[in-house]
Amino acid sequence: MSAAVENIVNRLNELAAKAQEKLISKMNLEEVESLRVEWLGKKGLLTEIMKGVGQLSATERPVVGQKANAVRDGIAQSLDQTLAKLREEKILQQLETEKIDVSLPGRRGHFPYAHPVQIAQDELVSILERSGFLTEVGPEIEHEFYNFDALNIPPQHPSRALQDTFYVKGHEGVVLRTHTSPVQIRTLLALKPPIRMCCPGRVFRSDYDATHSPMFHQIEGLLVDQGVTMADLKGILTTLISEFFGQALKVRLRPSFFPFTEPSAEVDMECCFCKGKGCSTCKGSGWIEIGGSGMVDPEVFKAVGYDTEIYSGFAFGMGIDRMAMLRFGISDLRAFYESDLRFISQFARLRP
Ligand code: PHE
Repeated sequence: MSAAVENIVNRLNELAAKAQEKLISKMNLEEVESLRVEWLGKKGLLTEIMKGVGQLSATERPVVGQKANAVRDGIAQSLDQTLAKLREEKILQQLETEKIDVSLPGRRGHFPYAHPVQIAQDELVSILERSGFLTEVGPEIEHEFYNFDALNIPPQHPSRALQDTFYVKGHEGVVLRTHTSPVQIRTLLALKPPIRMCCPGRVFRSDYDATHSPMFHQIEGLLVDQGVTMADLKGILTTLISEFFGQALKVRLRPSFFPFTEPSAEVDMECCFCKGKGCSTCKGSGWIEIGGSGMVDPEVFKAVGYDTEIYSGFAFGMGIDRMAMLRFGISDLRAFYESDLRFISQFARLRP
């Protein structure tokens, strides 16, 4: 053996011995992995040692090559064994410290009570569903076409004014919907009569005091068929209100104006606290205003291509927050949006 061969073989033996010795000491998984790189990696010690092989003769080279392979395989095997042992220890340790009782029920990851507005919304929807109304949803970020134009609300109309409507910056003609009525248009375009749909959801207006919140909830109702009358509207509303409050309550339609209904009416319900006698909630009148309604305006039918000679319909829109306030006896709307869990947990219905 030449001195050069001897030198390389010695260094290989040293590396092997050093590796075995090092692997006995206590290490974690990452440390062992980094040793693999240090010893056997492309720029590692083994590569470094084998740099001298180029100078050896053709007969010497395979001898050193074999030796190097054996050393490499030996170290690799030791590394693998050490890693396997460390992994097993880690699992055993986890089993020891993390005691999991698989027989325990799962923990609820969220606040368990339904919000009063949600409770009111679900009940209104379920009453209307029993009268054959489908539930539709529409986008909260809406195009002016659906929120205004197709509803016969022209560009100069006061309800489009900046102080009421939230416009989406940088997007021409895009608003946060100011009511659920745009879903009337979406539904009329998507379905064919006979149509009975309701749509609960969030709406947005730039307003904030004891009875107004910039985000609130409405439920829309729309019925389109042949020969629909205001008596049908009043009938549906009376059922809705009476079932919601669990007592027979009268509904009054008071003449009003909306661009998308003709004739239009404010919806008043008999006061659920005094049954029409007059109290502080209804300010002595015996009636409480809860929404708007009317017969679908021919201009709306035209905008969606319906034949006004054949079809007629009614629509109504109601504030869900207001209904929840009356139902649960809450006087300040802001309580709904302050996220006080003590307040929200009073209505005793668990979330599904
Ligand atoms: N969209 C109207 C509002 O928000 C209410 C309404 C709905 C009126 C349907 C008539 C018909 O004030």
